Amino acid sequence: MSASPSAIESVLIENRVFPPSEETVKAARISGMEAYEALCAEAERDFEGYWARLARENVIWTKPFTQVLDDSNAPFYKWFADGELNASANCLDRHMGTEVEHKTAIIFEADDGAVTRVTYRELLKRVGRFANALKAQGVKKGDRVLIYMPMTIEGVVAMQACARIGATHSVVFGGFSAKAVQERAIDVGAVLVITANYQMRGGKELPLKSIVDEALAMGGCESVRTVLVYERTSTPWNRVQGRDLSFAEALEGQDADCPPVSVNAEHPLFVLYTSGSTGKPKGVQHSTGGYMLWARQTALWTFDLQDKDVFWCTADIGWITGHTYVTYGPLAAGATQVVFEGVPTYPNAGRFWQMIERHKVSVFYTAPTAIRSLIKAADSDDKVHPKNWDLSSLRILGSVGEPINPEAWMWYYKNVGGERCPIVDTFWQTENGAHVITPLPGATPLVPGSCTLPLPGMAVAVVDETGHDLPNGAGGMLVIKRPWPSMIRTIWGDPERFKKSYFPEELGGRIYLAGDGAVRSEDRGYFRITGRIDDVLNVSGHRMGTMEIESALVAKTDLVAEAAVVGRPDDVTGEAICAFVVLKRPRPEGEEAQQIAKELRDWVAREIGPIARPKDIRFGENLPKTRSGKIMRRLLRSLAKGEAITQDTSTLENPAILDQLAQTN
Ligand code: PRX
Repeated sequence: MSASPSAIESVLIENRVFPPSEETVKAARISGMEAYEALCAEAERDFEGYWARLARENVIWTKPFTQVLDDSNAPFYKWFADGELNASANCLDRHMGTEVEHKTAIIFEADDGAVTRVTYRELLKRVGRFANALKAQGVKKGDRVLIYMPMTIEGVVAMQACARIGATHSVVFGGFSAKAVQERAIDVGAVLVITANYQMRGGKELPLKSIVDEALAMGGCESVRTVLVYERTSTPWNRVQGRDLSFAEALEGQDADCPPVSVNAEHPLFVLYTSGSTGKPKGVQHSTGGYMLWARQTALWTFDLQDKDVFWCTADIGWITGHTYVTYGPLAAGATQVVFEGVPTYPNAGRFWQMIERHKVSVFYTAPTAIRSLIKAADSDDKVHPKNWDLSSLRILGSVGEPINPEAWMWYYKNVGGERCPIVDTFWQTENGAHVITPLPGATPLVPGSCTLPLPGMAVAVVDETGHDLPNGAGGMLVIKRPWPSMIRTIWGDPERFKKSYFPEELGGRIYLAGDGAVRSEDRGYFRITGRIDDVLNVSGHRMGTMEIESALVAKTDLVAEAAVVGRPDDVTGEAICAFVVLKRPRPEGEEAQQIAKELRDWVAREIGPIARPKDIRFGENLPKTRSGKIMRRLLRSLAKGEAITQDTSTLENPAILDQLAQTN
């Protein structure tokens, strides 16, 4: 059955309930709602005891912890603070001598379809060798390493190798610009950069190393002593003598055996940058112990991973989803997983379905934006519809990164999951480390478009501006009332911003503010996320700060006087970026306007990365402002959507600009 085009546009609320089949319930790790409720009750009764139990069950400690939660310096919470462990040993060494040792850890499919497999034992050796190579370059425990790599086994190895020697990694998504790399390298104080000469995406060879060169040449990155280059393709790259080494050179003569370094549970495993409501991205700092606990436990619970499963999370390692559900969670759980280098539309939009069939994927985890674009493709070309492939290996589907509209949910359920596979709509954020609200495949009755209920121990609530709980049916702010082990520890180098952003005084300074709006259903108390309540957009499941894009636009000082950025709904990307721009020259029209709009789009793509490229650019002689000079963003949001203006515009200095700003280029 093929969906009608309206299937991806509508945001209707779907009230049908899809309970798990008896068979699924019977086989699941968390079997039935009673089992879920028992865990919730355990966490309620003995909060610390519950987390301590899970920490002992999920993590191999080199020194057992005696403390569980330390809230003496809240909101800088500590978990298992006197315990010690190594994250890489928790993913690899733990499996040696078990039946997992010779199991396939990663099935890698390259952009061109070539497949490589590694077992857990082989992966451990590669990580050990790479870790020794890092040590040989002088990288020590506590040093920061920036990783700018394509989706490859080597990317996972690089992260694991850092963890093995106690170095803190900071992965930058391969689609970010030189400027973004430079800013992050400076902020995190990287001593070494791991990159590739090129990455292959959609049949094209795209540069990475030259972007690193450009970033480091911008200045301020003097802490970087070494650049390691993975030669993904045979195309030559430019070597900076005394700084750059190929992987082959760095690995030569290195032993595969590298004892894992024990670190404190609170030791920063990684810093991952994400957008906030100011111009500067935030370095979200995660711990080792608490993070590993929840990464593994959620991989096992949410995806119900069993011995024979083939798991595939399509996220890039440059995002939190790739950290938790590619590099750490599935490996700690001993799963076999698929890692994919390419894009879902190459060589055609049937690639995902073809790969599911080819590798007999049983648990598939992707983003609504990918699903919506594949619905569109299947609607216009029957040959790439999932019905053309054998998807009978699938047993669980997952969704992450943005709200999934009920129509896309239904299409995914019917056409990919054959009406047999539960869909886990997982709500969480970079700052959460791992899943927060999600159905459990063998327990939770599903309602399309709802992420359903919090995981046991996650004290999620919907509150008003004063922090008071709201009844079901009332929309409010999503908060987490108690700390949890995999939570953000601080913003790298900016503890004040950490407190202000996530634990605002208005809510008492102890409650985590997610930055999303939510509402619970009247009947079941199920959560539905209504979108960000701050100046953060969600474009194709990627977070973008409006201020970040505005800063990039006004940085084009020869052209731009002022800019304001808002989001508007988009049927494929969820939200699209719409920029209102005042130029330092008369307002352009017609072809000139189109030309300048293109110039500005390309500029933003260069400044931040292609994901930040504004879809719409509109020009005005001014922006709509209140008398006190504040930009009326609500008005801009209406204009972006093409809605009639119903707001009070009496305070506007020049109402005629509204007509100008309503025009698209
Ligand atoms: O707005 C929410 C949305 O994505 C934001 C977090 O983005 P990021 O830190 O990049 O992490 C994305 C992957 C975990 C949230 O504040 N979001 C994420 N998952 C969902 C979601 N919105 C609705 N439903 C979801 N399942």
